[in-house]
Amino acid sequence: MGKRYLIFMKKAIYPGSFDPVTNGHLDIISRAAQLFDEVIVAVIRNPDKKTKFSLSKRKKMLKNCLLGLPNVKVNNFDGLLIDYARLREAKIIIRGLRAVSDFDYEFQMALTNRKMAPEIETIFLMTDYRYSYLSSSFVKQIARLGGDVSALVPGAVVKELRRI
Ligand code: COA
Repeated sequence: MGKRYLIFMKKAIYPGSFDPVTNGHLDIISRAAQLFDEVIVAVIRNPDKKTKFSLSKRKKMLKNCLLGLPNVKVNNFDGLLIDYARLREAKIIIRGLRAVSDFDYEFQMALTNRKMAPEIETIFLMTDYRYSYLSSSFVKQIARLGGDVSALVPGAVVKELRRI
């Protein structure tokens, strides 16, 4: 049926620090799960920023939230994202775009990755407007200051945030 339908038969990687996973991430993952055969949520072990949650906790929270999506797997990676994509034989990287402010960083990252690995394509999904302002840092800050984060993150994450 021509090129248009190619993406429906592929493996995609959705990378991030997920410290912790938010409803915004879950929105992107569930939509990606409908577009691709397999989605690997790749949790970076040591991001440039210091994480609040350990790698195993970040993965556990994700896995709990993704039980209903059988074609989504949660894994971790170190080093360059393109090396991990090659290792998993994935040709697609998914990124969510929240607001115009994300554009510069995402543009730079996508072009750098393409320079290093021309065979890998970055595909952007527009974040749902309800989560366009959301970030893991804000969620942690609100939780730390006693605010209600139940509309921003899944229940399992609310519980974990109460402990920090
Ligand atoms: N909804 C809500 N929030 C979202 C979101 C969405 N759809 N998408 C991203 N965010 C938030 C995250 O919670 C995070 O918030 P925080 O900064 O407060 O923690 C922020 O946006 C950015 O996070 P994320 O998308 O997870 O990106 P990241 O900067 O943590 O991770 C990597 C980026 C891991 C993909 C990138 O650093 C990488 O590939 N590293 C590997 C090394 C490499 O290959 N480098 C070369 C790259 S050119």
